[in-house]
Amino acid sequence: MLLSQAAITILGGKGGVGKTTLAAAYALGLARSGLRTLVVSTDPAHSLGDAFATPLGDSPQPIAEVERLWGVQPDPEATVQRRVRTILDDAQEALPREVMPAVRRQLHHAAAGPGMAESALTDRLIDLIERVPGDWDRLVVDSAPTGHLLRMLDLPSLLTPWVQGLARQRERAVSAERRASGPLTAGAGGAADATSADDPLLQRLHERRHRLSSAAGRLREDALVRLVLTPRRMVLAETERAAQHLREGGFHLGPVILNQIPPEGDSEVLTAVRERFADHGVVELAMAQAEPTGAQRLAALARELGVAQ
Ligand SMILES: Nc1ncnc2c1ncn2[C@@H]1O[C@H](COP(=O)(O)OP(=O)(O)O)[C@@H](O)[C@H]1O
Ligand SMILES: [Mg+2]
Repeated sequence: MLLSQAAITILGGKGGVGKTTLAAAYALGLARSGLRTLVVSTDPAHSLGDAFATPLGDSPQPIAEVERLWGVQPDPEATVQRRVRTILDDAQEALPREVMPAVRRQLHHAAAGPGMAESALTDRLIDLIERVPGDWDRLVVDSAPTGHLLRMLDLPSLLTPWVQGLARQRERAVSAERRASGPLTAGAGGAADATSADDPLLQRLHERRHRLSSAAGRLREDALVRLVLTPRRMVLAETERAAQHLREGGFHLGPVILNQIPPEGDSEVLTAVRERFADHGVVELAMAQAEPTGAQRLAALARELGVAQ
């Protein structure tokens, strides 16, 4: 896949290597080359706004003074609360009223549980993937550190069969309910079988399964993962494991970005990085004297990355 042709570019890597900075630079470069670009942060500890020196919020907004560039930092709490409300609305239609207080309690517990923010941010990423191409030409993802990114990328394909299973259970429950309510409502033959057309919950489950499996496909076909690393042994080791996991998962890997190279010149670990990633290609970026924040410094980085004129 040609680098500039990937609809989605995901910057991944260990904490502190420069994912946010480079996602911001990458997006800015794409926008300057004429593409309508949205950059999204999927790290709950958002810092994308800091890189642009512009506050960003829960919905996409233009980034000051840069044409064709939008940024968004989805709010995991607000997303979880919206999701809880939707599930409760569906449950109200599908379940007997007396079980609703228990369902409500369960959901509020689950909403506060581990993994919820991650899953909410994955949902928001899927929403945005569906809008590219369309509302935007390119999507750039500033991701959370390695482990979170790998789970986020695996989530759509892991959840698809699970949601499929829920849909099957719901189909059986609705059919059984109809049979139990007698021949008058069940009618003859297959009329007792549940279809998504007449059960909103089932409709929602089918829709969710479809969206998850499409996202799993898009992440493998239209996305390029750019791993960022710094010349340090531990970072190299983590990056190698991540690269292997991603390759095995069927994701496309672009050249790695070796960032924050100190001015001292070649070192053992630099040589090791160049050797290990010779097949992928390595783009090298020096440690800048000033922190690369704000449009001007990010634009210089974008040129070094090869994504702007
Ligand atoms: N090439 C570079 N030169 C100098 N400082 C850099 C460079 N890349 C990143 N930084 C700085 O390193 C710190 C971590 O970068 P950041 O983009 O937040 O990393 P991550 O998102 O991977 O945690 C920030 O202070 C950032 O400004
Ligand atoms: Mg970051």
